[in-house]
Amino acid sequence: MRITTEQNDISSVLFSEEQIEERVNQLAKQLTADYEGKDPLMICVLKGASFFYADLCRSMKCRLFMDFIAVSSYGMNARSTGVVRIIKDLDKNITDRHVVIVEDIIDSGLTLKYLKELLSARKPASIKTICLLDKITQHKCEIKPDYCGFSMPDHFVVGYGLDYSDYYRNLPYIGILKPETYQ
Ligand code: IMP
Ligand code: MG
Repeated sequence: MRITTEQNDISSVLFSEEQIEERVNQLAKQLTADYEGKDPLMICVLKGASFFYADLCRSMKCRLFMDFIAVSSYGMNARSTGVVRIIKDLDKNITDRHVVIVEDIIDSGLTLKYLKELLSARKPASIKTICLLDKITQHKCEIKPDYCGFSMPDHFVVGYGLDYSDYYRNLPYIGILKPETYQ
C-alpha cells in the first residue's frame, strides 16, 4: 500500500481496493446484462464518482455512451446543505435515451433525487441510478438507487474519488476520515 501523509487522517479502511474492484465488476456484469442492446448513456456525477464511473464503464461489455455533469451540494463542509447547483451540464440531449446516473454516495439523498427529477424532465426513454455507497440511515427524502455497491453506516468517508474539501480523492481505498480532521 502507498504511504502518504494523508493516510494519517484515516482512522480505518472501510472498503479495500480488492473489495471495491470485486463489487464494481459484479455491478458491471449486472448492468451489461440489463442494458445489452440499449446503448445506455452513462452519466458521471463529477467529481466524486469519477473513479467508480471509469472502472464501471470499462468493465461493462455492452455498447455505451459517456457524459458528465457536475453539481455542488456541500461547499467546503462535511454536511449536506440540501442546496444543489449545476456547475457543468451534460453535453448531449438525453431525450429517448436509456440513462444511468452514476453517483458516488448517497447521504441525505437530496442530490440524487434532485438530479433524477431534473433529468427526467428531459424525457429520457428510461432513467436509473447507481451509487457506489449508500448511507441508508441518513436519507432525508424518498430515494432508492436501482443499483448499489455497498450500504454503509454514517461515517464520513474519503478515497476512490470521494473527498473532504477536495483532499483525499486519490486514495485507492475508501477510508473513514478521523472526525478531528473536520470538526
Ligand atoms: P446528499 O445530497 O446528502 O445525498 O449528498 C451526496 C453528495 O455529498 C455526494 O455526491 C458526495 O459528493 C457528498 N458526500 C456525502 N457523504 C460523503 C462522504 O462521506 N464523503 C465524501 N463525500 C460525501
Ligand atoms: Mg463531493
